[in-house]
Amino acid sequence: MKEKNCLIFGGSGQIGRHLIRKLTKNNYKVTVVTRNIHQKSHIIRTQGNAGYINIVEVSIFEEAKIRKLFENAEICINLVGILYEKKGSSFYNIHTLFPSILAKLCKQYNLKHFIHLSALGINEATDSQYAKSKLNGEKEILKNFPLSTILRPSVVYSVDDNFTTNFMTLLNRLPIFPLYYSGKTKFMPIHSSDLVEVIFNVISKKIYSQIIECVGTETITLREILEKLLNLIDKKRLLIPVPLLMGKLSAKIFQLFPKPLLTEDQLKLLKHDNVLSGNYKTNSDIGYPAKCFFEREVDKYCHMWREGGQFSKKNKLK
Ligand SMILES: NC(=O)c1ccc[n+]([C@@H]2O[C@H](COP(=O)([O-])OP(=O)(O)OC[C@H]3O[C@@H](n4cnc5c(N)ncnc54)[C@H](OP(=O)(O)O)[C@@H]3O)[C@@H](O)[C@H]2O)c1
Repeated sequence: MKEKNCLIFGGSGQIGRHLIRKLTKNNYKVTVVTRNIHQKSHIIRTQGNAGYINIVEVSIFEEAKIRKLFENAEICINLVGILYEKKGSSFYNIHTLFPSILAKLCKQYNLKHFIHLSALGINEATDSQYAKSKLNGEKEILKNFPLSTILRPSVVYSVDDNFTTNFMTLLNRLPIFPLYYSGKTKFMPIHSSDLVEVIFNVISKKIYSQIIECVGTETITLREILEKLLNLIDKKRLLIPVPLLMGKLSAKIFQLFPKPLLTEDQLKLLKHDNVLSGNYKTNSDIGYPAKCFFEREVDKYCHMWREGGQFSKKNKLK
């Protein structure tokens, strides 16, 4: 079988790593674009058979260099995304402008498919700049290249995430933990391997449904997620609902940090349940329901945050 060439942007991240493993195992060749080959090449290179992985260092706005990469690509996958803005990386640049450019290039170079990762709940969170920029990005993509498939996942988890792992670190360190909106916001967390199964089948079975919402097997509130994580790492912590005003004040302070724990925009997102809208096809509708269960999966890697584990506050081995 002739290998197919996939051009992946943002492949060094959580979802990208899982996806590179899946694609290369299945005889797809990947070209992975990264901003920093020194930092990221060992992560990318070790995800699959080296002969199947080509790594290119390009800033995502060097259009002339990116253009060249499209000459040999058949499928383009965009996994670039940010949770907070930084100098030079605005939500507009990353979530609207960049995907729009990619979609135009897909059309110009006659690619067979463009798969773009958006996010669940962006129609509802109209007051969030993150959500607005993702929504505008989707519109630009569908305008520029109709052979696109946009996936909107709920929160994605795995050992490589910035979600369960960060929460377990914070729960380890803080004696009390603040709950915004009383921890009642609902999520449908999807394991990275379940999401990658969807992406892989969208590519290999040529599924051109324009927007697909991707969710896991359970609907869980933020409070339940934290309680499950506490239970898994064998810790007891006070989960304390905080008034919204205090939430806003703390977000104002936190967002000044280089890697903010919480921003005002994230607080706005947290106001809305992150669940299926009922308005779009889902991963189950296209034949790929999630299989993983939250506690069972996190149990496989949470030991590192338990007493004596490498990320535990008190490491007895030291
Ligand atoms: N993880 C979730 O819970 C979740 C939920 C909903 C939607 N999504 C979406 O799914 C996609 C992939 O998520 P992920 O969790 O795999 O993301 P991730 O781990 O944060 O990785 C994204 C990749 O994007 C690139 N990137 C980050 N900031 C950038 C910037 N300012 N300029 C250029 N490139 C940048 C990085 O690649 P290099 O450093 O190699 O350049 C990074 O590895 C994103 O679009 C995200 O919004 C994720």
